[in-house]
Amino acid sequence: MNLIKKDVQDYFSENFGNERGSVYASPGRINLIGEHTDYNGGFVFPGAVDKGIVAEIKANSSDKVRLYSIDLRDLSEFDINDENGPRASWARYIYGVCRELIARGVKVKGFDAAFAGDVPLGAGMSSSAAIESCFAFALNDMFGDNMIEKFELAKIGQATEHKYIGVNCGIMDQFASVFGKKGHLIRLDCRSLEYEYFPFNPQGYKLVLLNSCVKHELASSAYNDRRRSCENVVSKIAAKHPGVETLRDADWKMLDEVKNEVSQEDYNCAKYVIGEKERVLAVCDALKAGDYETVGKKMYETHNGLSNDYKVSCPELDYLNDIAKECGVTGSRVMGGGFGGCTINLVKDELYDEFVKTAKEKYKSRYNKEPLVYDVVVGDGSRKLS
Ligand code: GLA
Repeated sequence: MNLIKKDVQDYFSENFGNERGSVYASPGRINLIGEHTDYNGGFVFPGAVDKGIVAEIKANSSDKVRLYSIDLRDLSEFDINDENGPRASWARYIYGVCRELIARGVKVKGFDAAFAGDVPLGAGMSSSAAIESCFAFALNDMFGDNMIEKFELAKIGQATEHKYIGVNCGIMDQFASVFGKKGHLIRLDCRSLEYEYFPFNPQGYKLVLLNSCVKHELASSAYNDRRRSCENVVSKIAAKHPGVETLRDADWKMLDEVKNEVSQEDYNCAKYVIGEKERVLAVCDALKAGDYETVGKKMYETHNGLSNDYKVSCPELDYLNDIAKECGVTGSRVMGGGFGGCTINLVKDELYDEFVKTAKEKYKSRYNKEPLVYDVVVGDGSRKLS
């Protein structure tokens, strides 16, 4: 992200004058395992990456917010008290964060900001959470004297998605972006919100992402549909077991009891989630024991569940997963919300070159484009750069 810092500062002075603002950064994330479990009260296992968003921001003594997106070459303005906010969807992420901070008592005033990112858009690496966390962290620092604690900053990003973007996401992405720590993955219990840092430095293995470069136009409505499916099943189970609030509280027996009361689609979603809850815990134990073969096996199981039961994969991602299997890669699966984006692959060092070469060739010959390759470097969370 340091590379883009200079661009951001150049653009800032070109657009907003020579008086310097403060520079902040927030990362995108990977997730080793625990997909679509966050809004079901389950466990996730993300980490921040070394790619994200960098913004230079300066208060401008007015009520106007002036934003410049360097990547989109687009300027957007809104009044901080405006009830409706800007139309441009990228600016709505920042508008939402401002409104949510104000609702929590931070006296956000007008500011000028230029920002850019090196986390790929729509690749399942949470570029939108990186924007939300960057501005939540920065504005809390600039206007709130850091009165809002870190967990609440993540919730501000999540509330922005719900209320201003229309995606009913869980807390994983914003949490990972705010709490990331170099060299560590974080296991978060999305029910109790307890979390634990796990050092992640697998000897003899690499984590690599292959970006299918597929973007699903209807990803947000399909995402909301999956969440609804899970909630439908919970409501049926809760009618028999009043203590059950999310699928986290449900088990195989309870699911079986309502099998005939829910659609096949909803049943399959719940089946995937209950299985995934168990897989995350198995992966944590395996990691502690240095057993990467088990970690990898569970990743493949997750892919199968996401593809066949949760139905958030696509032919391109399934193909990348098949290639990984054929090459003898230890673990591989679709990462993030799905419907496009990346696979995450746990690869033995000695297989890495051959795998990447084969994946590029085969994917190109079937889809006429190469997957993009990102080596995972687990980095720090939201911070002030200068
Ligand atoms: C998206 C959402 C997250 C999470 C993942 C799937 O990234 O923003 O909250 O649900 O999908 O695990």
